[in-house]
Amino acid sequence: MCGIVGYVGDKTAVPILLNGLKRLEYRGYDSSGIAVLKNGEIADAKTEGKLERLERLLRERPLEATVGIGHTRWATHGRPSDLNAHPHTDCRNTLAVVHNGIIENYLHLKERLESEGHTFKSETDTEILAHLIESNYKGNLFDAVREALKQVQGSYAIGVVSKEEPDRLVAARKDSPLLVGLGYGENFIASDIPAFLSYTRRALGVGNGEVVLLTRDEVRMANLEGKQVFREGFEVLWDAKMAEKGGYKHFMLKEIHEQPKVIMDTLSGRVDPANGAVTLEDLGLDLSPYKKIYIIACGTAYHASMVGKYILEDLAKVPVEVDLASEFRYRDPQVDKSSLVLAVTQSGETADTLAALREAKDKGAAAITICNVVGSSVTREVDGLVYTRAGPEIGVAATKTFTAQLTALFMLAVRMAGERGSLPPEELERLGKELLTLPQKVEATLDEKKSLLQCARQYARCRDFLYLGRHINYPIALEGALKLKEISYIHAEGYAAGEMKHGPIALIDENVPVVALTPRDKVYEKMLSNIKEVKARDAIVIAVAFRGDPDIHKYVDHIFPVSTTDPYFTPLLSVLPLQLLAYYIADRKGCDVDQPRNLAKSVTVE
Ligand code: AGP
Repeated sequence: MCGIVGYVGDKTAVPILLNGLKRLEYRGYDSSGIAVLKNGEIADAKTEGKLERLERLLRERPLEATVGIGHTRWATHGRPSDLNAHPHTDCRNTLAVVHNGIIENYLHLKERLESEGHTFKSETDTEILAHLIESNYKGNLFDAVREALKQVQGSYAIGVVSKEEPDRLVAARKDSPLLVGLGYGENFIASDIPAFLSYTRRALGVGNGEVVLLTRDEVRMANLEGKQVFREGFEVLWDAKMAEKGGYKHFMLKEIHEQPKVIMDTLSGRVDPANGAVTLEDLGLDLSPYKKIYIIACGTAYHASMVGKYILEDLAKVPVEVDLASEFRYRDPQVDKSSLVLAVTQSGETADTLAALREAKDKGAAAITICNVVGSSVTREVDGLVYTRAGPEIGVAATKTFTAQLTALFMLAVRMAGERGSLPPEELERLGKELLTLPQKVEATLDEKKSLLQCARQYARCRDFLYLGRHINYPIALEGALKLKEISYIHAEGYAAGEMKHGPIALIDENVPVVALTPRDKVYEKMLSNIKEVKARDAIVIAVAFRGDPDIHKYVDHIFPVSTTDPYFTPLLSVLPLQLLAYYIADRKGCDVDQPRNLAKSVTVE
């Protein structure tokens, strides 16, 4: 995700745009830029790197103007660079665009625009918007933006300025956030309220598929067909700090609730709604020749990788080994050129993962990565990649990047099953289409908080928790335990439920809450047996189960309901209540949820 801002009024625009971008840095910070209308021309400054580099540029070359747009980027298409930084301009430098979102059909539009003579400067999907508006401009910017957006598939929140109409800016949104700040003799646009909160508390929402015209005295909205839209503004009651968290108390809670959008973005343009076919545009290599896959990762990414093993072996019938990166590099893995190594890492900078990847490549393996940071170290050392599109994750505890990694692994498994012909076409189609239902199912699952809050109140003082899962949900038992221990400092263990008799059952008594992952799948009855075992020893049992499961309530003390989905995709839903349970317990204990003691967001040292 990225952050966009815009200003039209009588004040000098640059300080206002920069202040807005500072407030949106949590949305992305690998590059930034602004464009203003100065002496009837588009003048811009943009650079890779943190916002202070842009500020330095603007001190060296001040831009005096009263209308402008700005952008802080989290790259999804095209690595961080000066050229790929926004704003992007058209061929004749008559207009500039900033964009947050993903243009799914940008390649098709780019080919058509190039055939019409347009020349492109960047690798981004966004740049096609500048040329598309240019090709639709017939003297009215508002109309040109509407006509251009009718041809666009995907998500967008954009700001546009044009030297032909220097007293205004035009904005629009679909599936990406955009708000209008209503001033007196000035107006603002932004991805989020904090960007203009210093100047006005009066805001106006922009609806999906709506286009907004702003001058210093006027705000006018219409849908893409040009039909005018009227909407009441509202008063913003948050303070600036709260506003950066979207009104949530912590970034972690905000990021947990961003997951429906993150999964939608990660799926965006990669699963055909018509037939469920999966295409991974950045992967860039045929995976069918490889005889074995070695997945390497650390921490939460390792738990995602474990889920990947189950689904890749079950669906694509390809042998998979999963290793903690810190262990992989010290054993003598029998890797060769018939092997494919997959590094799963949200930061792309984890030292152990990078070292293990290099070890595998030295032995001749081909290398790919599932990563969240475009242009990070790991992306420069692989033969192919799948980007998750989770945006920056500020909370140290990984949440949205974990479910984004699972989404990428699900897509990879379906894609490989198709390549290898290991599943019948109708099964591939069913799975592909089920993927597209996940954002809504995540939303519905996150809405179920009643028993979560009750358990957080009731068990926050417990000293030990045990998490049990089987098969594809065994890694979720490990992940749920990690979430609890890393933010609440309570000792928690995840275990394969089948292991209970081999030792862990000795831990059980009335003071040990046991969280059991029991979606209605092929190991459900086995999980019920484990639940009965621990109940017989006075354990408190909390079950994560399909909403409406008619039997589970007979055996457990609490239920965290999740939406029903294909057994292969249940990990993505069953982890959600465990993220929230850890959060509510840690918050109740007054822990520093976003920056837990002793931890760092990215472990770049061994
Ligand atoms: C999980 O909540 C932690 N933040 C940590 O375990 C993390 O998953 C691990 O350090 C791997 O980081 P990466 O995905 O950036 O490689």
